[in-house]
Amino acid sequence: MSVWAVVAAAGRGERLGSDRPKAFARLGDRPLLAESLERLDASGWIEAIVVAAPAGWEEPVILLAEELGCGKVSASVAGGESRAESVRAAMAEIPGDALVTLVHDAARPFVTDEVVERVLAPLSEGWDGVVPTLPLSDTVKRVSGETVVETLDRVELVSVQTPQAFPAPTLREALEGDISGASDCASLVEARGGRVRIVEGDPRLLKVTTAADLERVAALL
Ligand code: CTP
Ligand code: MG
Repeated sequence: MSVWAVVAAAGRGERLGSDRPKAFARLGDRPLLAESLERLDASGWIEAIVVAAPAGWEEPVILLAEELGCGKVSASVAGGESRAESVRAAMAEIPGDALVTLVHDAARPFVTDEVVERVLAPLSEGWDGVVPTLPLSDTVKRVSGETVVETLDRVELVSVQTPQAFPAPTLREALEGDISGASDCASLVEARGGRVRIVEGDPRLLKVTTAADLERVAALL
């Protein structure tokens, strides 16, 4: 199975409020991006990696990959205005005969080979996408402004992480057309009627959004 990984790292990190893009914010003594690059590069499942970098940071991404000895990083391209546009720009670097694409957010540093294997395994059963999920512990309500509209049944809800796996042609097709509003790739596949399967995520796959998240993640190093 030829698996190409896309690392979405092109976000500005506005909520983090760092002086540089989030992928280059410091986690310990390295850029946040280093953690997921190194882990994906070491995965026996992954053949090559394309990074969607913040515009102007394509070269620093390549230098970082070289410094880390991540020989699977084959390209670094400027991302777009939205996450999906960044993934689309990265997909353009992936050969047409690649079978599977794994899309991962640089904002989730602690990707493991176990979760990579869990999302890849069901693809052979014909799924159009596979996503790692966690059950919700909080009660969730739908609201309108300050007013609660309803309380949702938590049993039917999960929170969704990355990495997410897709047959490469399925993801390529899903990235055509209007993609601006999508917060993950699976939603684009779902919108086209694709069947997306859930597998168990990993509580350590925390997402860095705010400065407090970065502290929490740094404590786990
Ligand atoms: N991302 C991307 N291209 C964009 C926007 C986001 O590649 N135009 C990536 C981010 O780099 C991140 C992931 O998508 O790894 C999830 O996005 P998010 O956590 O929202 O990161 P940012 O957009 O950087 O943060 P913010 O929304 O606070 O600016
Ligand atoms: Mg964002």
